Parts: sequence; C-alpha cells; structure tokens
Amino acid sequence: MMAVAVLTIDGPSGAGKGTVSRLAAKRLGWHYLDSGSIYRSLALAVSKQGIDLADEAAIVRAAEAMRLEFECGEELTVRLNGQDVTAEIPLESTGNRASTVAAIPEVRRVLLQKQRDFKQSPGLVADGRDMGTVVFPEAPFKVFLTASASERAMRRYKQLKEKGIDANLARITNEIEERDRRDRERATAPLAMASDALFLDSSDMTIDSVVEEILNLVRKG
Ligand code: DC
Repeated sequence: MMAVAVLTIDGPSGAGKGTVSRLAAKRLGWHYLDSGSIYRSLALAVSKQGIDLADEAAIVRAAEAMRLEFECGEELTVRLNGQDVTAEIPLESTGNRASTVAAIPEVRRVLLQKQRDFKQSPGLVADGRDMGTVVFPEAPFKVFLTASASERAMRRYKQLKEKGIDANLARITNEIEERDRRDRERATAPLAMASDALFLDSSDMTIDSVVEEILNLVRKG
C-alpha cells in the first residue's frame, strides 16, 4: 500500500494557517484537516448544552458524544450533532472557548483518532497547533507558520470585518496574546515547533509566497 503523504502546518492563531493550508491542499489535490474547527465545535457543543467550562468531566463526555460532519465546498460547512454551526465557528468567542477546552488532556485524547481519520489517499494537509508534534509526528513535511502578534491581530480584525462581524482591534490583540499564552503553556500537546519543521515568519510575506515556499518543500520531497 502507498503511504499517504501528510503536510502539517502548525502555528499560533492568525498566522494565516487556514488560508495557506486550504490553498496548498487545493494545489496538491490533497484532503484538508482544520483541526481548530474540531475544538471550536466542541466549544459550541459545550455552550449549547449549558456545560460549565470548569466541568472537565462533562466536557470530556460532550467530546465523546459529539457527531461532526465536515463538507468541503467553497467554504467549509460544519454540522454539529445534526445542526449547521458554520456561522458560529469563526467567532472570537468560539475560538477563545476552544482554547480552554483544548487544554484538557482527556479531551485531546478523545479527539486524536477523529483527526487521524482524515489521513486518506492521496494526501493530507493538516492545520493546527500539534499536527507535526503529536497527531502526525511521522509526517514527512512540516511547517511552523507564525507572524508578529500585531500583524496577526490586524489580519484577524480585517477577516472578521469582511465577514460583517463586529470587531475591536485592541480587544482582538489582547485576546490573541491571551490565547497564545494558553496554547503555548498548557501541559498537554502545547503549541510548539516540531524539531524537523520548516520555520516561516509570514509577517512580511504575501500569501502566495508562503504557499510557494511550502509547495517547494513538498516538491523537494
Ligand atoms: O486554529 P483555531 O484558531 O481555529 O483554533 C482554536 C483553538 O483550538 C486554539 O486556540 C487552540 C485549539 N487548538 C488546539 O489546541 N490544537 C489544535 N490542533 C488546533 C486548535
């Protein structure tokens, strides 16, 4: 059987991982895993079920019971327990709660296989925080994509405005720094660069040049 190729793209929020990963997947003709949307979906399930963010046992049960369907069209459609939650996935409040539920080690264990199931022929581009370190450590192609906090906050601000979502730049900057800290400092699978990853700082790069660098890595094999 041919091995399935995996390209992992990890980094902090707002580094451009989503856009770059989707473009790379399209160019390569590979599948795409947006692992953040799995944690975001769990955060939504938790708030819809009225579960307290401090009740770790109930959050783990929600993770075990969660039924998730992704549909990759022009945009990613997400159905959670039969309900279309696509519009709620990108909200800042969802991202912040996702970062909190993602810090629970048992939650990460429960969601591990759901993520590995995306590894299908001919290949997978996996976007997240621990794709190259924990979920797909065997991946032959790994990238750590980052940008300065101020640049990431500005991109996030523009992205939300474009979607017609009300946004405040100072608040987004604070939230990005807070989320970075939580994602980097948690004990289980923290945001970290794999030792065999290519480091890319996209602060002064265009999306196209980031995608080209990444595709070059894959082409070199
Ligand atoms: O990439 P994102 O902004 O959609 O991710 C939302 C949160 O989910 C992020 O702040 C931390 C968590 N997350 C994670 O812990 N591990 C991943 N592989 C992806 C996301």
